[in-house]
Amino acid sequence: MEASLYERLGGTEGITQIASDLVDNHLVNPRIATRFAESDVDTLKNAAATFFITGTGGPEVYEGRDMVAAHKGMNIDAAEFVAVLDDALKALSKNNVGQREQEEVLFILYSMKGDIVFG
Ligand code: HEM
Repeated sequence: MEASLYERLGGTEGITQIASDLVDNHLVNPRIATRFAESDVDTLKNAAATFFITGTGGPEVYEGRDMVAAHKGMNIDAAEFVAVLDDALKALSKNNVGQREQEEVLFILYSMKGDIVFG
């Protein structure tokens, strides 16, 4: 059987590094950085890592809210959503994730657009 996406992203260790880089990218991305001005960085990195670990076939460690509840009322627009995808791809490339795995992650993230961007 083929390895899960979780395994192909380097398991918990690999995904924790990718998620950390993703959040670091958000904090310097001029399109979205202000969204995270009040955030606790370690908490956010932990939420991103556990969300990815659970969502890619790893252990059930995510304890945060679902995507609708987490983003409700924020008025996130499509350009901000693309900015998050850009940051994700940058983090994946930096961690030498293969093209195919990058495409799989992008597809999964894109499929959540309707829960995060309204209007
Ligand atoms: C597919 C895309 C996205 C995913 C998978 C995602 C995932 C998450 C997760 C897992 C959390 C933590 C929820 C919790 O702990 O209860 C979160 C919170 C948050 N997200 Fe997203 N998100 C996405 C897109 C966006 C976009 C486009 C924005 C706006 C630029 C955004 C802004 C935020 C903010 C401001 C928080 C709260 C941070 C805090 O409480 O400190 N997210 N997101």
